[in-house]
Amino acid sequence: MIYLDNGATTWPKHRAMFAEMVERYMEIGVSPGRGSYDQAVEAQIYISKTREKLARFFGGADANRVIFTSNATDALNLALFGLLQQNSRVVTTRLEHNSVLRPLYQLQQTLGVKTNYVSFDTLGFVDLEEFEKAIAAVSSANNKVPNLAIVSHASNVLGTVQPLARIGDICRNYGVPLLVDASQSAGHIQVDMAAMAASALVFTGHKSLYAPPGIGGLILQPDLEIKSTRFGGTGIESKSMLHTQAFPERLEAGTHNLMGIIGLSLAVDDLVRQGLQVIHRQEMVLASKLYRGLQHIPGIELYGGATFMGENDGIKSSLEGCYQLPLFAANLKGLHPEDLSSILDGDFDIAVRSGLHCAPLVHETMGTGQKGAVRFSLGQFNTEAEIEQTILAMTHIAERWIPS
Ligand SMILES: Cc1ncc(COP(=O)(O)O)c(C=O)c1O
Repeated sequence: MIYLDNGATTWPKHRAMFAEMVERYMEIGVSPGRGSYDQAVEAQIYISKTREKLARFFGGADANRVIFTSNATDALNLALFGLLQQNSRVVTTRLEHNSVLRPLYQLQQTLGVKTNYVSFDTLGFVDLEEFEKAIAAVSSANNKVPNLAIVSHASNVLGTVQPLARIGDICRNYGVPLLVDASQSAGHIQVDMAAMAASALVFTGHKSLYAPPGIGGLILQPDLEIKSTRFGGTGIESKSMLHTQAFPERLEAGTHNLMGIIGLSLAVDDLVRQGLQVIHRQEMVLASKLYRGLQHIPGIELYGGATFMGENDGIKSSLEGCYQLPLFAANLKGLHPEDLSSILDGDFDIAVRSGLHCAPLVHETMGTGQKGAVRFSLGQFNTEAEIEQTILAMTHIAERWIPS
């Protein structure tokens, strides 16, 4: 199988990580932070060290404000319900995933939270002028409740990477905290909260960090006020009926996913060892080859990835210089994307995803709101031969199915 659905979850993961996870878990797999026996203390130390590692990796200032969640959706819910109040105002973009859009809709229904969805240009980049106007409006409303900006670092449909340092500057200038959804970008490119002036950041383990599923996180900068929205056992202040206000326990209740945390810790070590830039470059060379191979096929429509056609194939990897992940979407005129993905799977053993990719506003804006598109998303294990086979497969499908 040629797996080009890494934007959903990366596959395969590194076999060595699973082997090491089992080893580590057999040594320290008890309830962390609850007992005072050696293993419980060791498990707690392992978790604290992983928080420190993640704070360093993502530019967070305080390891105690690295909060473990089960995935990005869980972290976004934790952040949005903990940060927003009655009549809060939010600025976000039409590029966001349903894990942002749906909690915001829920908060609109229950707390009257008002959201402005800033648009993006034909290439897939947030309209910065419109964004600044929306932020200015929120900051001048002075409604004495916490307001928030939420921006995904990279689109899960178009792969475009937003200029977060500039977006962060705008938010900082107007005093509106910025929450960054780094679900797609983390593990592909450097994600530095400090450089983005982000007050909060969400990541997920199972995508390009190559950790197992079931682990993700929310990282907060120390000046951001957030309330608990879950209550329960934490191993501290057990006499009190009130949930502790100490971090990280304020936002974590119940037994940790230690197996997932071990996997995440090992996965981050591996990324650092390999070098993000090395991995990213290799994936971008292949994605660029795919994009350039597909663009000549009659009837092809490509969404995102336009920077592959630019200077240096659009391959840049510094924080501000990277405009694209190895991910974009496509359609063949006259063929429903679901049929295209079924043919790719059935006849060519190529795994891609079709549909709206949980980002309905992206498709509405791109004019694909009804049927969606097929997404090609690359990972560490893809090869040049696989990309060549995919271009051939798409060429055959276009010849066979598209009327000339
Ligand atoms: C941009 C973006 N945000 C959030 C999510 C949700 O991630 P998770 O499945 O880890 O909850 C995804 C997953 O597809 C995504 O692409």
